Amino acid sequence: MSKQPVSRRQFLNYTLTGVGGFMAAGMLMPMVRFAVDPVLKGEAAGDYHPTQQKVSELTETPVRVDFSYEQKDAWYTSEVTSTAWVYKNNKGEIVALSPVCKHLGCTVSWEGNDHKNQFFCPCHNGLYEKSGKNVPGTPPLKPLDVYPTAEKDGLLQLGKPQANNV
Ligand code: FES
Repeated sequence: MSKQPVSRRQFLNYTLTGVGGFMAAGMLMPMVRFAVDPVLKGEAAGDYHPTQQKVSELTETPVRVDFSYEQKDAWYTSEVTSTAWVYKNNKGEIVALSPVCKHLGCTVSWEGNDHKNQFFCPCHNGLYEKSGKNVPGTPPLKPLDVYPTAEKDGLLQLGKPQANNV
């Protein structure tokens, strides 16, 4: 390998290019961060939406709880209305199930169409047990999603629905 000395012109070129690059990056980074920041900010885990359901009034019979909240999708904010089927299990724990059928997304109802002690989906006769577990032999292949729950001032709060491991 030949060792050629770096000329003064080359040295200045390298130095100015390097310094210029750092300065450009320093100016551009805040602008890029500002532009994409809302996209990077997802809904924080542990975000709960308030409902008007009193926890003390929950029983072992599922009740429909409607609630709404503001959803920020990048730069766009919208009002979302959602629903949960909520009850207390035999251990006294609150169970809040998503009403969205895991087959094709219709809305299930408790004891619909005279199906005792089950959630019923009218679209293709899907059935779920009270725990949200799908009944084998009916179209849904997964259990209903479950909402994380919390209580504030005696009122139920619901998080983001997640997979139900029943
Ligand atoms: S969408 Fe519920 S059974 Fe098909």
